[in-house]
Amino acid sequence: MPDLYAVIGNPIAHSKSPTIHTLFAQQTHQHMQYYALLSPLDNFRGTVSEFLGQNGKGLNVTVPFKLEAYQLATQLTERASIAQAVNTLRFDNDAIFGDNTDGVGLVKDIEINLGIPITHQRILLIGAGGAAQGVILPLLQKQPALLAIANRTSDKAHALQQKFSVYGDVVAGDIMNFSDQDFHIVINATSASLQGELPELPGKIFTHTILAYDMMYGREPTPFLHLAKYSGAQQQADGIGMLVEQAAESFFLWRNVRPQTQPVIALLKSHTPSPLTP
Ligand code: ATR
Repeated sequence: MPDLYAVIGNPIAHSKSPTIHTLFAQQTHQHMQYYALLSPLDNFRGTVSEFLGQNGKGLNVTVPFKLEAYQLATQLTERASIAQAVNTLRFDNDAIFGDNTDGVGLVKDIEINLGIPITHQRILLIGAGGAAQGVILPLLQKQPALLAIANRTSDKAHALQQKFSVYGDVVAGDIMNFSDQDFHIVINATSASLQGELPELPGKIFTHTILAYDMMYGREPTPFLHLAKYSGAQQQADGIGMLVEQAAESFFLWRNVRPQTQPVIALLKSHTPSPLTP
């Protein structure tokens, strides 16, 4: 019997994770099976128990269960504990190990795949929900010159500033607080792109931007990436690279083998795109 893994979420049908992990498994000759697992919104724990009953070895966790996965884990990495969100579970005998590989996935995509250093750069992170919270610590560990967190509801950005200031230079506010400032890297961590919307954003913010990065992805460039392009951002990227990189980190946690990400990113980018889902 192959070892069993899955991505659990709701909705989940359009997830690319089964494709990614199946390609990783083929590439590294791992005897495993990975599938998409739909959990009822009100029965995450029950669905995980059932998966464990089938001798499941590990799960990726996506919207809206990352907080519940954090609560379920009996052992947490520092980054998962600080993010208070878990996207990777590994079942080790009686222990449930929880990690969050989203941030390291983003950092690797920006620095290695796109070749843009984060250290000493001015970074603007738009959004203050779970997706933003999961990437702040790994970004700060790269020692940017500044991390500005802008959110429609500025109180939430200020709460994150308070929480993360011990790890680096963090400022927070409404996007309009930063409209006269230059940022090298602008990251959209809001869920606006999922609805085909654009967070309110002054185009001039992109005047000196090297990279505009949308953590979401979809059929077409998102409205955020459109605005960035036409407002002068030198380069634009969607979240496909981050998705594959976070998957590779999870795969490593489960199998202790590092798959190559480049061929998988290239394949996903060339394939018929699917709707906007993590
Ligand atoms: P996720 O886990 O995807 O981050 P979330 O925790 O619900 O989801 O957070 C969604 C984030 O996207 C929030 O920062 C939200 O802003 P508010 O805190 O003001 O609600 C942001 N967001 C969603 N739709 C948006 C829109 N149309 N414009 C601007 N920000 C938006």
